[in-house]
Amino acid sequence: MKILSLQYKNFRNLKETKLVPHSNINIIYGDNAQGKTNILESIWILTGGHSFRGNKDKNLIAFEQDFAKVECEFKTIDRSQSIKIVISNKNKKATLNNVPKKSISMIVGKFCCVVFSPEHLSLVKNSPAERRKFLDTTICQMKPSYVSLLVNYNKTLEHRNALLKNLYKSPSLESTLDVWDEKLSFLGALIASERIDYTSKLSLYSKAFYDGISGNKEHLRVLYNPSYIKDCENTQDIKLSLYNMLKTKLQESINLGFTTVGPQRDDLLITIDGKDAKKFASQGQQRSCVLALKLSEASILKEITGEEPIILLDDVMSELDSGRQDFLINKIKDKQVFITCCSEDAVLKLQNGRSFHIQDGGIISS
Ligand SMILES: Nc1ncnc2c1ncn2[C@@H]1O[C@H](COP(=O)(O)OP(=O)(O)O)[C@@H](O)[C@H]1O
Ligand SMILES: [Mg+2]
Repeated sequence: MKILSLQYKNFRNLKETKLVPHSNINIIYGDNAQGKTNILESIWILTGGHSFRGNKDKNLIAFEQDFAKVECEFKTIDRSQSIKIVISNKNKKATLNNVPKKSISMIVGKFCCVVFSPEHLSLVKNSPAERRKFLDTTICQMKPSYVSLLVNYNKTLEHRNALLKNLYKSPSLESTLDVWDEKLSFLGALIASERIDYTSKLSLYSKAFYDGISGNKEHLRVLYNPSYIKDCENTQDIKLSLYNMLKTKLQESINLGFTTVGPQRDDLLITIDGKDAKKFASQGQQRSCVLALKLSEASILKEITGEEPIILLDDVMSELDSGRQDFLINKIKDKQVFITCCSEDAVLKLQNGRSFHIQDGGIISS
């Protein structure tokens, strides 16, 4: 999908404007605190989600005003569409193709974006939970039934963990454990299988994107390979292996009071030239990794839904060398991209796109 025009009113510090972007690359540049990220945020809000900066919706309303409005005309494969979001102190209302929607959730999936902001570097730097969330969030978008699978698994896990704590005091309860092990390994194997399938797609795309970003100098690999899925060929094998592992690790789990094996403990291993990116990658390499993963996420969503999401890249340029910057500015074809940066350098390199110079919330040249 491509944005044809974007209009906002009373949105943070942005001056009321109708912005007509390029269908490929758009660079929004200017000094600090002028409103660059605010423009990306105004686009993101149209997805129906909350701000990627983790702010409350009402913080998006310009100071001293009582509502904020963002609207956009966009093109999908088959037609032109429009979407509007109005945020007040009380609520957030959406209108799609001039039809007011009862709830904001009804527009989720209609207007899609993938966003990279510096906080997303945590995807490489932080704990495994962050990487599991990255996998799960996209799988949930592709497969709504995965949401209930996760909910069901987590409930079962809570029951088993509660029982483990009691077992410490009353060992006779052990006979009741097997029913939870059966259920947990069954659901856990389904989750692991989905993550394996998704990671194999992610692996292909992210390798290609990283090759492009690094000019083929370094190679990225992503791997989802927890110990209990070694030598497994299908979901049934994983189930059996996980079931056996739950038994093997029972004493350890009783001592610790929680289940020490399963999808809730897994990690996505990210390596550059065979070295763990979390431990060894430079800032620029970590940035490149996350970019490759985010661009891959967009390509996989395109594969599933047929629509190319809009890409929002906030402050990615810093710490990237000129070759890597050139890839972002000139080598991403087919996708509509919005990139923010402070310096005008990127604009001078831009071959196929438009630039917007922003000052004090207003576009002063484009
Ligand atoms: N609700 C709001 N109303 C008015 N101005 C706001 C609001 N929220 C943030 N701002 C202002 O927006 C500016 C930051 O914009 P931002 O897009 O983050 O800057 P940058 O260009 O560095 O990305 C700050 O000056 C901040 O005070
Ligand atoms: Mg910013």
